[in-house]
Amino acid sequence: MLFAHNWEVAVLCGIVGMIADSVKTQDVVEALKKLEYRGYDSSGIAFVENGRLRVFKSVGKIERLEKTLGDELRKEIKVGIAHTRWATHGAPNDINAHPHTDCTGNIAVVHNGIIENFRELRSYLISLGHKFKSETDTEVIAHLIEEMYDGDLLQAVLKAVSKLDGAYAIGVVHSEHPDEIVAARKGSPLVIGIAKGIGIIASDVTPLLKYTKEVIFLEDGDVALIKKGRVKVFDSSGKEIERKVHTIDWDESAAEKGGYKHFMIKEIMEEPQTLVNAMMGRIKAGDILFPELASIDFSKARRINVVACGTSYHAALFFKYFVEFHTDLDVLVEVSSEFRYRKPHIDKDTITLAISQSGETADTLESIRLAKRLGSRIISITNVVGSTITRESDLSIMMNSGPEIGVAATKTYVAQLAILALMGLKIVKDRGFWSERHSKIADTMLRLPELFSTILSEKDHILEIAKKYESYSHFMYIGRGYGYPTALEGALKLKEISYIHAEGYPAGELKHGPIALLDEKFPVFAILPSDSLYQKMKSNVMECKARNAKIVAVATSGNVEIKELADEIIYVPRVPEDIYPLVMAPVIQLFAYYVADLKGLDPDKPRNLAKSVTVE
Ligand code: F6R
Repeated sequence: MLFAHNWEVAVLCGIVGMIADSVKTQDVVEALKKLEYRGYDSSGIAFVENGRLRVFKSVGKIERLEKTLGDELRKEIKVGIAHTRWATHGAPNDINAHPHTDCTGNIAVVHNGIIENFRELRSYLISLGHKFKSETDTEVIAHLIEEMYDGDLLQAVLKAVSKLDGAYAIGVVHSEHPDEIVAARKGSPLVIGIAKGIGIIASDVTPLLKYTKEVIFLEDGDVALIKKGRVKVFDSSGKEIERKVHTIDWDESAAEKGGYKHFMIKEIMEEPQTLVNAMMGRIKAGDILFPELASIDFSKARRINVVACGTSYHAALFFKYFVEFHTDLDVLVEVSSEFRYRKPHIDKDTITLAISQSGETADTLESIRLAKRLGSRIISITNVVGSTITRESDLSIMMNSGPEIGVAATKTYVAQLAILALMGLKIVKDRGFWSERHSKIADTMLRLPELFSTILSEKDHILEIAKKYESYSHFMYIGRGYGYPTALEGALKLKEISYIHAEGYPAGELKHGPIALLDEKFPVFAILPSDSLYQKMKSNVMECKARNAKIVAVATSGNVEIKELADEIIYVPRVPEDIYPLVMAPVIQLFAYYVADLKGLDPDKPRNLAKSVTVE
């Protein structure tokens, strides 16, 4: 197991299951619709009718599934499970959509999470004669249960999940057991509703609220047997256990946002899980693993050319600093809207890396088309399987962040930084520059989810600072070295959701012009970790202070001397200096979020902006 702690693989897909004397297929679909915000590239449902399992699936949003179901929607059923997908393994299409079935067609499984050892399990099951239909990791679960089944579904699921590495929340039905759903959880959320005459499970409480406010949150290792109005929970050894029943007092809209006011803050608070999802399976036994890049030889590459826009461009800058600092490889970074109209000097020895959360950004897409014409191989890092950029790339790396609903990129920026840091480490290794320093970075990367939780637990302190600064009209963000991309990103976050004019500058450039702006009405947000450029940054902050600018500093915990210089201090944990941009990310995001919220703006829907920029 990669991570020893209990982080959830959140917001990748949504699952529901219902069991009652009689429910309509439509009821299951309506429950599923409440989870559509968790993923919407395809969906599907399985139910048992006259002792036969029936499965319907459809690519696209749930309304497409409804069309596929047609009259079946009015059908009275006793048990059904359904799934709305955000693809991680295999493109979004009807075959890869859940539920997945075994060879007999009697067992159906819906799954949220990522099975790390699915390749090994798939080969093993194929050697036993199992036939696979999809490219998903989930399908191995259906075949494993088939392999373990001897008349008792609960026992079969208990045995099957003991073979799984990774994260899962699953719902399982069997045509011979129309009176039960078996559910299991490890690392992905699963909630069971306690209601009279009906059994209901879901990835979160939203679909349950129509039926009950009493719920059980399954814990890691739990396997549950759900019958109508009766729930039994077992530990991984099969021993029955008690789980506390919670009463939920959220309404549906709050439940969708996990009880938070906006998606943006929910998505920031998910970042520990985002990191787990992004890094899962990539650091093992001292090695850095990118199976997607097996055909790329970084030791032979002459340079890397990175194209991206906005926040993704800031992640790209971080990558440049990292790779150039640690290896002899040149990394060119350019905003896609410029790159696509220039005459770049790249060729077949240049690897082009496109970074795009949505995978649809028009300028980035055109940039990779140009790079391809010039002979470059294209690697993309995106969050959307099957997006245009992944389809037009030679190789793709998935961020696995689940859908990001807030327009401003937050958790996906963190996922990008994490993947880029690991890719940087892989390049260090492939080019023969690995040292103790890199082992330390890799070790700290594994601790990042924990460190992020500590930073996020300080959010009220950041809110208090935001209260003091929300009325300013300007902000200057400054940083040096690795702090510079963070300064750019901090300024972008603030301006795009709070509409405060914010500039991001390399601190050393201040004296070449922008320092003329500073006075008591123009505060400075200083990215000031205790790194090798700390003394230089400190001098720059002093220069700002001398112009009467208020200083908000993000510093390394333990730095007491900074109290004399800064008006406000936000501490982040000490990490190797190359990964300070990661621990700084939630700080700049929370600050921007709180300022926007205090100004009465909707941070989820900033004016004039769209989540996917598919036009020039
Ligand atoms: C800012 C933001 C945008 C995007 C940019 C690129 O919060 O979200 O700046 O980063 O539009 O989008 P992707 O990454 O989808 O290519």
